[in-house]
Amino acid sequence: MPKAKNAVDDTPTRRSVLIAGAGIGLTATACTREARPPAGAPGPGAHAARRRQAGVTTPQQATALILAYDLDPALRGTAGARELKAVLERWTRALAETRETAETQQTGDTGDTGEAQEAGGGRVARLTATLGVGPGLPDRLGLRAPDALRDLPSFPGDRLDPARCGGDVLVQLCADSADATEATAATLTRLAGDTLSPRWRQGGFLPPSPDGGGTPRDLLGFKNGSANPTAEECERWVWSGDATYLVVRRVHLRVEDFARLAVHRQEEIVGRRRATGAPLDGGSEHDDVDPLAKDAQGRYTTPPRSHVRAASPRLDDGARMLRRSYSYADGPTDQGLLFLAFMRDPALFARVQRRMAAQDDLAAFTQARGSAVAYVLPGAGPGRPLGAELLG
Ligand code: HEM
Repeated sequence: MPKAKNAVDDTPTRRSVLIAGAGIGLTATACTREARPPAGAPGPGAHAARRRQAGVTTPQQATALILAYDLDPALRGTAGARELKAVLERWTRALAETRETAETQQTGDTGDTGEAQEAGGGRVARLTATLGVGPGLPDRLGLRAPDALRDLPSFPGDRLDPARCGGDVLVQLCADSADATEATAATLTRLAGDTLSPRWRQGGFLPPSPDGGGTPRDLLGFKNGSANPTAEECERWVWSGDATYLVVRRVHLRVEDFARLAVHRQEEIVGRRRATGAPLDGGSEHDDVDPLAKDAQGRYTTPPRSHVRAASPRLDDGARMLRRSYSYADGPTDQGLLFLAFMRDPALFARVQRRMAAQDDLAAFTQARGSAVAYVLPGAGPGRPLGAELLG
C-alpha cells in the first residue's frame, strides 16, 4: 500500500531562516517531502528549543557550495583545539553579521517567504551555512567524538580522487545565488587564517525544472528527493538530538549514455516514472515504492535491479536518509550528482551504497569521484558559538 502523504508545512518563517542561516538561533524547519509554498507554521518535527544548524531540513536553495578545509598539520592537542575554536567563533560572528546585513539592506517587505532582498534588488538570500567535522579531526585534537564518525569504507566501482575527498572541516553553503555562497566562502576562508586551509570545493546547482518548483530534477532528468523522509521520520532517522551526519559524494554520471535509452528503460533502471516521479505501479510522486509488490502475473512491479529497490528503506529496517543533492557540471565531460545526504548514522549510507554496487542497474551510469563524511554539530546559540559541544 502506498504510504499516505504526510502534509508538512516545512518552510520556516523568514525570521527563523535568517537566524538559523546564521547558525545562531532556533531552527524551526521540517523535512523536505511535501515541499510547499511558504506558510510560516513549523511542521510537526519542529522543536522550539532545538539548536540545529540550518541547511539540513531547510527547503533546497538554488545553489550549493561545499568547502573542505584541513587543519594546519602543525596543530595538535589542546593548542590545536584552541585555534580551531577561535576560527569557529569568528565564523559564527561573521555568519550572523552576513544575515543581519542582508536584513537591514532589505529594500522591501518580502513577507514570510524566507528570502531577503539585497540593496539594488538582487535576491540573496536564504543563505545557510552548515558546518561539520571530519573523522580525522577529534583524535588529533584529543577530543571525544561519537563512534559513528569514521571514514567511509571503499566501495566497488569508486574511482576516488584523493584531492576531492575528506577534510577536517566541511561547510555546506546554500543560497539562491552563487554570488552569495561565493562571497561567504571568501569570508570564511579569510577568517580561517593559517589554521584551516582549503582542501577542495565543489559547487552544485539545481537544473531548471520543466514543472517549475516541486522536487528538483537531476541531470538524468528524474525527480530526485521524492521519497525523502517526512518530518517525523527525520526526528527518528536524521537527527541525533541536535546533531546529524552529512555524507558528500561527487558522483560522475554518464548522462549522454543514459539519455540514449528509451524512457521506459530509464524508468526501469530508476524504479519511478520520469515525468511524475510516481512509483511504476501507479499512485503519485510521494507514495512509497513497495519493492516486493507483484502484478497479477506475479512479476515484480518495480524491477529487482532498479535503484529505488536497492535504496529501499525496507531493506534497512525502515532507516532513512534525507537526500539534499545538487547537480554539478565541471566541463562537458564531467557532470553528475553532488550527492548530499543527512542521516543519524553514516553506516546507513554504506549499506545502501554496497547494495547499489551489487544489485543496481543505475550503478553502470555512475562513478563516485569524490567522497567525504562529517559530523554536523548542533547549531550556535546565545553564548555558544559553532563547535562549542566539541571544543568546550
Ligand atoms: C549516483 C547518482 C544517483 C542518482 C542519479 C540517484 C537518483 C535517484 C532517484 C531518481 C531516485 C527516485 C526518486 C527519489 O526518491 O528521490 C532515488 C531514490 C533514492 N536514492 Fe538515489 N540516486 C543516486 C545515488 C544514490 C546514492 C549514492 C544513494 C545512497 C547510497 C542513494 C539513495 C537513494 C535513496 C535512499 C532513495 C529513496 C529510495 C526510496 O525511499 O524509495 N542514491 N535516487
